[in-house]
Amino acid sequence: MCGIVAYVGNRRVAPLLIEGLKRLEYRGYDSAGLAVVNGDGIQVMRSVGRVSVLEQQLAEHGIDDGNGHFAGTLGIAHTRWATHGAPTEVNAHPHTGRTACGHTLAVVHNGIIENYAALRTYLQGQGHEFTSETDTEVLSKLIAQLYEGDLKAAVQAALREVSGAYAIAAICGNEPHTVICARKGSPLIIGIGDRSYIVASDASAIVAHTTQVITLDDYQVARLCAGPVDKKDPVGGPWAEEFQTTTIDNIPVSQQVRALEFDLQKIELGGYSHYMLKEIMEQPDALRNCLRGRLDPRENRVVLGGLDRFTRELVRAKRYVFTAQGTAFHAGLIGQYLIEDMAKIPARCEYASEFRYRNPIIEDDTVIVAVSQSGETADTLAALAEAKDRGALALGVVNVVGSSIARETDVGTYLHVGPEIGVASTKAFVGQVAVMTLMALFLGKRRYMSAQLVSDYLAELEQIPRHIARVLEQSDHIRTCVDRYVDRDNWLFLGRWYNYPVALEGALKLKEISYIHAEGMPAAEMKHGPIALIDEGMPVVFVATRGSQYDKVMSNIEEVRARGGRVIAVATEGDTDISRYADSVFEIPPVSDALAPLLTVIPLQLVAYHAAVLRGLDVDKPRNLAKSVTVE
Ligand code: F6R
Repeated sequence: MCGIVAYVGNRRVAPLLIEGLKRLEYRGYDSAGLAVVNGDGIQVMRSVGRVSVLEQQLAEHGIDDGNGHFAGTLGIAHTRWATHGAPTEVNAHPHTGRTACGHTLAVVHNGIIENYAALRTYLQGQGHEFTSETDTEVLSKLIAQLYEGDLKAAVQAALREVSGAYAIAAICGNEPHTVICARKGSPLIIGIGDRSYIVASDASAIVAHTTQVITLDDYQVARLCAGPVDKKDPVGGPWAEEFQTTTIDNIPVSQQVRALEFDLQKIELGGYSHYMLKEIMEQPDALRNCLRGRLDPRENRVVLGGLDRFTRELVRAKRYVFTAQGTAFHAGLIGQYLIEDMAKIPARCEYASEFRYRNPIIEDDTVIVAVSQSGETADTLAALAEAKDRGALALGVVNVVGSSIARETDVGTYLHVGPEIGVASTKAFVGQVAVMTLMALFLGKRRYMSAQLVSDYLAELEQIPRHIARVLEQSDHIRTCVDRYVDRDNWLFLGRWYNYPVALEGALKLKEISYIHAEGMPAAEMKHGPIALIDEGMPVVFVATRGSQYDKVMSNIEEVRARGGRVIAVATEGDTDISRYADSVFEIPPVSDALAPLLTVIPLQLVAYHAAVLRGLDVDKPRNLAKSVTVE
């Protein structure tokens, strides 16, 4: 949700910022902009649309013409997902402010300044004129208002006045070798390069330059300086770099430099036409990585080092509350079923946004499980904080290492499925479900599960990556089938028990990237109202694997067929009965009910992908969406 890149060093900054923005574009892509300190001034360029538009605009303005346009080595840049104000050029970042002593400064910002209206009124009273509708412009003018020759002090003073969430980077024409950055509630990472610093809202924009990073914590401010010691010899002379971190109250904080474990190849397209397809196709390997070292069939145990510290509390817990949003919420629902089914502990899953505001009761010995790919989702973070305040033990199921949720939880398990760039989450869902299956077995074994049952599940789990690869082979068949229905504007997705959250996920995937209206629900719920929607030719997707619910689902299939609906079934290989009733069948290898979601979701991801491509849509940049929702 919005991306920030900032750089100070010895390289020409504009191309470097553009490259960084392109890597961050999946976080927001309705407008983009950059600001470069050049000589005594700041040059700003902003544009509506993709980063490529900004790049084109820069090229037209002669960035490489040798005339010194955008020629500096200090700059900030932003790709936006609109919150305050439409995606227009004036609302795009960076926003600028003019100090009393006549210097210009520029700011990029992720997050929301909640008290921006009051601050705006105050600043207007001080003579500042606003050109945009954004909360960020308020911040830039506030910093300018408080500037007395020290950008860091002005940023600190401004941030003490604001409420809300932010990650910011600021530069000032008067301080041509300094970038100031700060965060509260929105991620920001500082990369320490050779004679340079690069700041970004996620690691993908940093990794090409350095693997040495610092992650800022809430309320921390960093001052990063890099430049020639001798102004008369800026190129050949000695060079100095310095970074300093403090709180917004100027209390020094020491920072640990850590090594980024991030493979650049993993964030490249690698021959695929879209990140979503790449991430769908790499799920067998992603899952192997997720399971690696965690299954020990010889000893008949699950190894989850991240839970060690509180194993006793986790095993004796009286209740598990899963909390998440979107796809992660669907994974959390499966987590709820797994914990009840395998560990026999009462569990529920709630939307984080609802949980937080409904004054929830947290009984003693409750574990709150925050499920999140990014580890930065604002709603999930807020629900986690609420549950912790009420005494729950916090457990994270997170993909991004070192993210806010990972740091806010007492124990946790990373997904290890690699970076997810596609806006529509795919491999992270499979990783979340796999990790929660491991957790349920980990607990179940220490509670009531028989050794034989644990052993059977472990043996089955080991085979899942291979099974996924087999399901993926049906991609062309799925595309041909989707082609038949892609003009239909309403689809239903139905399933029972473990396959009900998969139906929800199938519907979400389809609507978010193909803009087809789709609803997911428990198969039995259909006859309580939604059946009225079914008319001749309406596509209805049934997740109808051979398992304890099979016969019931078959009855629901008959109900749809009787009303002219077209049945698309995700079924178990070798099920000849279902092929008599369904218009199209996608097969998965036979597995237990509890493990079925790891396979049944795969054809539904491909249904959504092919539908979007067939409709000519931009799969990786669906309209109105962005990866990682860091506002409530
Ligand atoms: C859908 C999707 C979103 C996310 C949701 C939570 O494809 O990606 O619904 O699942 O915004 O995000 P995380 O998992 O980062 O907390």
